[in-house]
Amino acid sequence: MNNITMCVPTKILFGKGQLQNLPEPMAAYGKKVLFVYGGGSIKRTGLYDQVTAMLQNNGFTFWELPGVQPNPKVDLVRKGIAMCREHGIEVVLAVGGGSCFDCGKAIAAGVNYDGDVWDFAVGKANPGSVKVLPVVVVTTIAATGSEMDTSAVISNPETNEKLGFSTADMRPRIAVLDPENLFTLPRNQTAAGVTDIISHVFEYYFNNDPTAYYQNRHCEAMLKTAFHYGHIAYDEPENYNARANLLLTSVWALTGVIGKGFDIMWSSHMIEHEVSAYYDITHGVGLAVITIPWLRYCAQFESTMPKFREYAVNVWGVDPEGKTDKQLAEIGIEKTAEYLKYMDMPSRFSQIEGVEITDEHFGEMADHIMNTFGAAMNNCFVPLNRANIVEILNNCL
Ligand code: NZQ
Ligand code: ZN
Repeated sequence: MNNITMCVPTKILFGKGQLQNLPEPMAAYGKKVLFVYGGGSIKRTGLYDQVTAMLQNNGFTFWELPGVQPNPKVDLVRKGIAMCREHGIEVVLAVGGGSCFDCGKAIAAGVNYDGDVWDFAVGKANPGSVKVLPVVVVTTIAATGSEMDTSAVISNPETNEKLGFSTADMRPRIAVLDPENLFTLPRNQTAAGVTDIISHVFEYYFNNDPTAYYQNRHCEAMLKTAFHYGHIAYDEPENYNARANLLLTSVWALTGVIGKGFDIMWSSHMIEHEVSAYYDITHGVGLAVITIPWLRYCAQFESTMPKFREYAVNVWGVDPEGKTDKQLAEIGIEKTAEYLKYMDMPSRFSQIEGVEITDEHFGEMADHIMNTFGAAMNNCFVPLNRANIVEILNNCL
């Protein structure tokens, strides 16, 4: 196993009513706050009122940046950076989902950088070279794990790019994780979030490293939890225990704990980010379509059979007696597809409402992945080149 260096200093306030315990630790970072939120769900649910009351009653001064869209756009990040500079903001408070957090994290990184924040995304500048403002988050959806990871994924509609960048100080300092804040999630967003959690774990679980025993067992625990409670939360939006277990799974999945000690490059996420860059679709919905064709692509190779066997037996409890590895692989994949179907997730691009995804840009998407990540794509579970990516995308149509 490779050496591991990691530090996850995020203070977690998990459970009912934990927002009330935020003022004291947050005040340690400053009293001038940029309050970042999305398209209005927090106003409808009452969380906006709770947050503003918390800020007002505890001597914070705050400026609001509403309107973060799913697949957050770089223009709003630029606006937030300008506001921080104008008002001498000390802390960025993002309330919502991964899009709000990523917008807030990118703002926090961009404030003390002289150039354009998009430079971080395209690798022209390193966010680790600037002083990043402290970020605090309050979660309303279990999905991305952005609450406790170091990354922000930002979209630039002008260039059809959706790119991530990261540095240690972009990891939120405090995360309020109250499962009750998830009760109002629409079912399709619950399903998209569950799909995203499962996909994050898949990106690590499907590896070829024989030394990663601990990481693999940890992944299996996460997958079992996500599979078990995903359907319950989908059917019973106000089931506290289901929301709580999903929330914990989502945040632990991307802290690094299951992805360190061995080399692995993500696969389906790289492809999904291209599709949502072009078509602005919901991240988890794109993953729902791509995951099964990607798994099927990987299951063509003899070398991947031991892992697929492990997946079917350990995660789905399939009895291996009398079955070939190939059959076990097919059963595991089929169970995954059925799982997503239960939550009404699309299995084809043509089933995604509101967009018409054709093969028109598949070549450009594959080129972009190869130009951005190059040789790293050889570290995917099954190495991917331009032709393989186009093949997987075609199988999503
Ligand atoms: O905008 P509002 O009105 O708040 O509504 C949101 C949004 O429409 C709604 N919502 C969230 N919580 C709600 C709620 N509606 C009612 N009640 C609630 N409790 O749900 C919609 C989706 O929100 P969003 O923040 O976009 O969802 P998610 O957390 O899935 O974030 C997706 C973004 O994160 C990126 C994705 O690519 C995408 O841009 N990712 C970030 C990662 C990271 N930073 O590490 C990794 C991930 O793989 C991912 O790429
Ligand atoms: Zn994701």
